[in-house]
Formats: sequence, C-alpha cells, structure tokens
Amino acid sequence: MKTECIKKVEAFVKAELGQDATGHDWHHINRVRKMALYIWEKDHLNADPFIIEMAALLHDIPDEKLNESEAAGLLKLQTFLDRLNLEETIKQQIIEITTTISFKGGRKLELQSLEAKIVQDADRLDALGAIGIARAFAYGGKKGQTIYEPCIEVRNEMTNEQYRNGRSTSINHFYEKLLKLKDGLHTYSAKQIAEKRHQYMVKFLQVFYNEWNGQA
Ligand code: ADP
Ligand code: NI
Repeated sequence: MKTECIKKVEAFVKAELGQDATGHDWHHINRVRKMALYIWEKDHLNADPFIIEMAALLHDIPDEKLNESEAAGLLKLQTFLDRLNLEETIKQQIIEITTTISFKGGRKLELQSLEAKIVQDADRLDALGAIGIARAFAYGGKKGQTIYEPCIEVRNEMTNEQYRNGRSTSINHFYEKLLKLKDGLHTYSAKQIAEKRHQYMVKFLQVFYNEWNGQA
C-alpha cells in the first residue's frame, strides 16, 4: 500500500517537475528524498520514514515560485493528495511540512515536527556544495540575473518579495542565502555534511575572485 502510494507520487512529481530548468527538477527531488532518509537512519531519529519520504518527494509541488501563486500551489498539492487513499492526519502532516520548509529570504519559521526538520535539512544540503553552486547559476540564469556584478551590493535584510524579485546576482546569492544555511540546520548528520560543502563554496568564491581579477 505504502510502496504503491510512493510510486504514484514519483510519477506525479516527475510529470510536474521533470522539465524544470531552475534546479527543481526530478533529480533534485530524488536527492532530497534519499538524503532525508539517510539522515533519519544515520541519526536514529524517532520520526516516521513514510511521512519523510512523501514530504520530500512533494516538497517543491506547492512552492509559490513554481506556481501561479501560493494558493494555486497549495490547491495542486491538496488535489493530488485527495486522490491518494491517505488518512487525514497523514495528509495534513505532509501539507504542513511542504508549506513551511522554504527559505524565503531567511524568515525563520519554527518547524513543528522532526520530519519537517529532516526534510528541510536535506533540501538545504542540496543548495550547498558543487551541486548547490550549479543550481545557483542555473536558477540565476533562468531568472535573468547576471553571474556577478560588483556594483550590486549584497542585501542583508529583505522581504520575501525583495528576495524573489529584487535585483541581485548569483554570486550575491551565496552571501544572501547559501553561506548562511549551515548555521540553521537541525540534525547532526546534516551539520557534518554541510561543513564540508560550505568549505567547498568558500574555496570556489576565492578562486572565482582570483580569476575575476585577472589572475592567470
Ligand atoms: P527556498 O524556496 O527555500 O528559498 P529555493 O527553492 O529558492 O529555496 O532555492 C532553490 C535553488 O535555487 C537553491 O539552490 C537556491 O540557491 C537557488 N536560488 C534561489 N534564489 C536564487 C537567486 N536569487 N540566485 C541564484 N540562485 C537562487
Ligand atoms: Ni527543493
């Protein structure tokens, strides 16, 4: 029953996000799913692996930036969940997790469940390291922002609207979000993995500036 349910979710998510070119494609979803389950197992966390897997698979479905609006995203998720034969409480847990874990310019929402913390950690790890770097430039390019523009300053505080639509660059995004992520993680394993990926990004930025400044 659960395996069948997961299969239906996989098919739905592939159909919805398979062609996404902003870094929210099926492979991102699949990495987040695997990483979330890895953290759960490695840290021996007392959380429900079915909820973790379902929420990880569906975490980008209601995202406002991938939908017409926040309400449209939520409706899409709810309509799909209604087609599965799930208990109401399980459905509510999945909706709760997938609608609260987004970064949105740094706003700190206190996450309610351990499952939410695990999925959020896994999603954030995918924004770090080599893959995180690739995703930042893919997202930035698709949005029409430049790789780097020294005249555009890094923003410290911003509203969700500014975070989504304000003028920035992909290099600035490292300071506005990516380098802050490791300090907001919840689980032991995620913190360990983040440390390595963080250092790799710091190194990347050093090399980037060296080349920018004409170093051979
Ligand atoms: P969240 O919704 O939690 O803020 P996103 O879904 O926006 O996270 O982030 C998805 C990916 O897109 C991440 O790898 C993130 O770094 C990247 N991204 C988001 N906004 C920008 C931006 N303005 N410039 C470059 N990359 C971005
Ligand atoms: Ni994601």
